[in-house]
Amino acid sequence: MESDAPKGRATVDSISALVTTADGILSSMRDLAEDRVGDDGPRRYRLTEAAQLAGRSVDAVRRAEAAGDLPAPRLRSSGQRLGYTLAEVNRMREHFGTQKRRGPDDPPVILAVQNFKGGVGKSTISAHAAQYFAERGYRVLIVDTDSQASTTALFGFNPDADIETDTTLLPYLIADRSDGLGYAVRPTRWDGLDLIPANLGLYSAEYILSQQVKGDVSRLSRLKTGLLEAAQSYDVVIIDPPPALGMISLSVLQAATAILIPTPPSSIDFASTAAYLAMLEEVVEALNAQTQEAVEYSFVTLLATKVVEQKGAHEVMRDVMGRAFSGSILPTALLDSAEFDTASVEMRTVFETSGGQSRTARRCRNNLLAVMHDLEVKVRQTWPSHRAQLREEGIA
Ligand SMILES: Nc1ncnc2c1ncn2[C@@H]1O[C@H](COP(=O)(O)OP(=O)(O)OP(=O)(O)O)[C@@H](O)[C@H]1O
Ligand SMILES: [Mg+2]
Repeated sequence: MESDAPKGRATVDSISALVTTADGILSSMRDLAEDRVGDDGPRRYRLTEAAQLAGRSVDAVRRAEAAGDLPAPRLRSSGQRLGYTLAEVNRMREHFGTQKRRGPDDPPVILAVQNFKGGVGKSTISAHAAQYFAERGYRVLIVDTDSQASTTALFGFNPDADIETDTTLLPYLIADRSDGLGYAVRPTRWDGLDLIPANLGLYSAEYILSQQVKGDVSRLSRLKTGLLEAAQSYDVVIIDPPPALGMISLSVLQAATAILIPTPPSSIDFASTAAYLAMLEEVVEALNAQTQEAVEYSFVTLLATKVVEQKGAHEVMRDVMGRAFSGSILPTALLDSAEFDTASVEMRTVFETSGGQSRTARRCRNNLLAVMHDLEVKVRQTWPSHRAQLREEGIA
């Protein structure tokens, strides 16, 4: 017997039930995230950490505080130091003249963390890299160009509720606005780290831009123009791109001045990376032929990610990659760790949860710091004014 219900109704209804359930789960996750928001920054640093980050001894900090050159430390009611915010550490750097920024003639680095393979850790690496650089006193802009908005969520923003589509890249990308990207830049809880957020609405840039590019290929350069201008106020701009080749990805390839390619060391993932590299070559050639400005990267570097040390196959693949790519792969691999998922459920990063001092948490954090230090060296090597200092540090 035929049902009176319209064709396919049962399927739509069952999907709709899934949507309702998914919304419920998201909203409980947000409640969890909101419970821990407040205070004055992502974390506080102990005196020893703060002094180390500021590049001076604990005694030097104490003396500057006693002399009134730095504000007196804030104390708990017990008399213990409350710890320093990143803004306070940055104030120490200003006082001691130990800021590690690019020189006025060094070009800002616009780094795209890209691979067309989904789920390789692009957003995780982008968000952690941005926070690492900000913690070291660099001025950082992170740009979420993926409508899935994972990076935006990792910074504690709810892409649906907190982000209006007209505060994403969309209006600028499709030329509804032409007064620069300033309208989209918002501060984060990290001192010196700003975000251009994304939400689902950004996806429409894919088809609008593709229509526009048919008539005028220079539309692909809009992101580059906007980011080059915005980058003048920063040392490092980090772009988290979508996982497929589309108009936004092409714009990212055009805008970037350096590329980091996360690659899990399995043969399937490696095959995708090889395909990505081949496509990168083709796309850069095509962009150079079609658009006015040449695409030039100061570095293109692989990063082995999600590496499970106990897995023999991962070890073999990592060795092969390390030897074959030598100078074009970061020396330290990013290890697989459940800490990333634990943190992301609360819409934050491992750097914000490092209060947890379990062995696995410490291991994950130390590994991340080593990976990010490798990346920092790559970035600083592009700045002529840092060369002498790098040599002094024993880095060529
Ligand atoms: N080193 C790691 N160890 C364990 N899990 C990780 C690691 N890096 C990322 N993840 C987890 O893998 C999943 C995918 O990561 P992420 O969203 O960063 O990838 P992506 O490349 O940005 O994905 P997409 O292609 O969808 O944009 C997330 O659940 C993240 O927490
Ligand atoms: Mg992502």
